[in-house]
Amino acid sequence: MTAAAITMASVLSLSACGGGEQAAQPSASGGGDKQQVEVFSWWTGPGEADGLQAMRKIFEQQNPTLTFFDAAVAGGSGDKAKALLQSKLQADTPPDTFQGHAGAELQGYIKAGDLEELNSIYDELKLREAFPEQLVEQISVDGKIYSVPVNIHRSNVLWFNPTVLKDAGVAGAPKSIDEFVAAMEKVKAKGKIPLSIGSEWTVTHLLESVLLGSLGTDGYNALFKAGADWNSAEVTKALESFKTILSYAGDPQDDWQPAAKQVADGEAAFNIMGDWAYGYFHNPPEGGLGKTSKTDFDWAPSPGTEGSYLWLSDSFTLPKGAKNRDGAVAWLKVAASKEGQDAFNPLKGSIPARKDADQSLYTDYLADALKDWASNKLAGSIQHGVAVNQPWLASINEAVGLFIGTKDVAALQKALADAATANAQ
Ligand code: GAL
Repeated sequence: MTAAAITMASVLSLSACGGGEQAAQPSASGGGDKQQVEVFSWWTGPGEADGLQAMRKIFEQQNPTLTFFDAAVAGGSGDKAKALLQSKLQADTPPDTFQGHAGAELQGYIKAGDLEELNSIYDELKLREAFPEQLVEQISVDGKIYSVPVNIHRSNVLWFNPTVLKDAGVAGAPKSIDEFVAAMEKVKAKGKIPLSIGSEWTVTHLLESVLLGSLGTDGYNALFKAGADWNSAEVTKALESFKTILSYAGDPQDDWQPAAKQVADGEAAFNIMGDWAYGYFHNPPEGGLGKTSKTDFDWAPSPGTEGSYLWLSDSFTLPKGAKNRDGAVAWLKVAASKEGQDAFNPLKGSIPARKDADQSLYTDYLADALKDWASNKLAGSIQHGVAVNQPWLASINEAVGLFIGTKDVAALQKALADAATANAQ
């Protein structure tokens, strides 16, 4: 179960010799005359790779003439992967299939003409009925559907260490931003890290939860409509809270896993991260940390967001010019299937995109997620491709990156407002 994460340099050299014209080469893993299917994602790290490997196993069982080539590029949230993907798409040397977020991110690839539509696969497998209607809308343009969603992730999760909270005299998960700040003050007094953070994108991830917790679902969703007012006093208040919350953060860790681990290890009290952290905490050692839920870690909606599901969905695509188009279609069929989704999601820490999945497989945190997904109001993630397209996200990331240094709320608000004006449609 080794994830063959390949470096930037090796991917670039692969794309350089791929040329986009030739059928797939025999697999690097000794597949004889098998054809390889290059699957591009960023699921290489602990907790991320387990689900992918489970789906790979089914794919290889069902397709004995095909070999899965893991073209994953390391780095949480896909920042590095997406930059490399862009260069491969521009050079017309796409992977056979790549991971893209439902929503504005996918719409970008569609508008750029990078993707084949998948309506015939949807018809053949009756997928329109299998997925929620609002999800299919996020991956469609003019009635044409362009990807296969494998899951629903939740972004607004507050992960916490129950023992650290107890020792600091914090009664339970804070429900509002004010309660959150008060709890972090108590943790700080005990000498523990109140809030763990990772690399820069995890701070944008934190920002979306704070915006939602402060503005409410309707106020948050309104930010992404044409003519939205990012200069409002409500947004100023949310950004002031963001500044206060960030003042309790520990030293930035390299990525989301080491930041989440500080909570599981009892070094930090809180971490706001998507529910892929559940797979990491809970999966057995090798892939995950093998921790016990409710004892080593616990969860709640991020402060002020109870009743809202800040969602995102990973989906797989069929790029135009895929070298092994048939192999990619075979992968998409596994990704779309009940069996594929039920193997992938319990390990990935997500709930299935399909409505007919085997609910008994989703226990513990995942049972809460299924219940909330069915009853909560929905808001789209910023960092993970639902609410904003990639140029808009790049501007937000840049503004947040500067803010980490300057802590200048007015400058952050202006940069966010400018980014919205430049990119909202
Ligand atoms: C998200 C992705 C998740 C998870 C996370 C951390 O963008 O949708 O599946 O991989 O990044 O890397």
